[in-house]
Amino acid sequence: MKYYILTYGCQMNKSDSERITTILEKNGYKKASKLQEADLIIINACSVRQSAVDRVYGKIHQIKKLYPKIKIFLTGCLLNKDKNKLRKKVDLMFEIKDLPFLFREIERPNNQINQSYFEIPPKFSTYPVAYIPIMTGCNNYCTYCVVPYTRGPEISRSPEKIIKEVKTALEHGYKEIWLLGQNVNSYKYKIKSEKSKVTNFPQLLKLVNDIPGNFWIRFTSSHPKDFSDELIEVMSRGQKITPYLNLPVQSGDNEILRKMNRPYTIKDYKKIIKKIRRRIPDITLSTDIIVGFPGESKKQFENTLKLVKEIKFDMAYIAEYSPRPGTAAAQLGDNVSSQEKQRRREILEKTLEKIALERNKRFLDQEIKVLVQKQKKDILTGKSEHYKTVKIQFPTKKSFVGKFIEVKVKKISPWGLKGELIKN
Ligand code: SAM
Ligand code: SF4
Ligand code: F3S
Repeated sequence: MKYYILTYGCQMNKSDSERITTILEKNGYKKASKLQEADLIIINACSVRQSAVDRVYGKIHQIKKLYPKIKIFLTGCLLNKDKNKLRKKVDLMFEIKDLPFLFREIERPNNQINQSYFEIPPKFSTYPVAYIPIMTGCNNYCTYCVVPYTRGPEISRSPEKIIKEVKTALEHGYKEIWLLGQNVNSYKYKIKSEKSKVTNFPQLLKLVNDIPGNFWIRFTSSHPKDFSDELIEVMSRGQKITPYLNLPVQSGDNEILRKMNRPYTIKDYKKIIKKIRRRIPDITLSTDIIVGFPGESKKQFENTLKLVKEIKFDMAYIAEYSPRPGTAAAQLGDNVSSQEKQRRREILEKTLEKIALERNKRFLDQEIKVLVQKQKKDILTGKSEHYKTVKIQFPTKKSFVGKFIEVKVKKISPWGLKGELIKN
């Protein structure tokens, strides 16, 4: 029996799929190299935007039409409305928290909690990068977002289990550890028997940094409301913590932020960035932005554009607002036209491209460290400490994937660097 997994959405879903793989392989399934060769397809869905949901509907329809014999199991982030519609169309729908019971003929015991699916060891699949979830869920209820509904409330994993998983990845030669959560800096783990003992995110980050070995640490996502001085301190001191940060701002306008239920102002956001840059001056900064939130005027959009120019982000994930049923913002109407959303997104993208090129000038003729992630013909591709994509032409028969190399940067573009290998 062969399986094939289709994963949509963010790194959290990618990581969940690595645990699904373990369960499938434990039950005798082997990976199919192509979807059509599978006996069972698992769809791990995302609902962050309507386009992601439409893709899931489209894929189920396509599989059923072209390959009616293949079984389909559906899981991941779905809203009840879609669950009810899709349940009839697939062979099985399961909640990711019920993964340990997938092939068991028993009901899930009542005392089992969400966390138990984390007990399944993942089959890491993106060597040399390992994704380690430190928590799941979200309590923030940003008014546009489905995550609190699809993933439920925040649950943090114990530091011991996280460290154990990081060590396993390192023992298997993984070199880059991504700590994952929807809001990693609200991570909190309480030991029930010791009331006063709480581990917060900066403390966890320090624990991971203190694990012996030659590896890099990255984490995502962070929320500006929880970005503490303690975290900045740990980031600036941890030698393995890379100088890269994704700090979603979502909008450059205070009124829109308020309507989004993002409890900070642009002044607060700029203050955090200032503090971070004071301690880690060359840090690469990326952000997430939504354009066309209900009622966003041209003036309010200009405020976002102004912020992007002022902060000079290296990168930004720009999304056109997509109303999500059941969220608070869905009540506000979707009154910015799709042409206008597209126009705003393109303006931001063009501006970012110029800024990114300008920002990358700091690497020209510099020697940087790169972790090689791909090797095709004589091109090595990897990421630098600053999370820049780096390409190096180097004819070799030896495998470089998973190796740190020293590179001299010879050419820059907005979204990447090219360089020569100087040491490996
Ligand atoms: N927890 C992270 C945070 O607070 O920024 C982000 C997680 S969310 C899954 C990833 C990104 O999707 C968000 O940062 C936001 O920009 C975008 N997003 C979420 N809901 C959206 C919606 N309804 N329409 C468009 N983009 C959305
Ligand atoms: Fe969604 Fe907001 Fe939670 Fe991020 S912090 S996952 S945007 S509700
Ligand atoms: Fe999508 Fe769920 Fe991630 S909604 S973006 S897969 S947390």
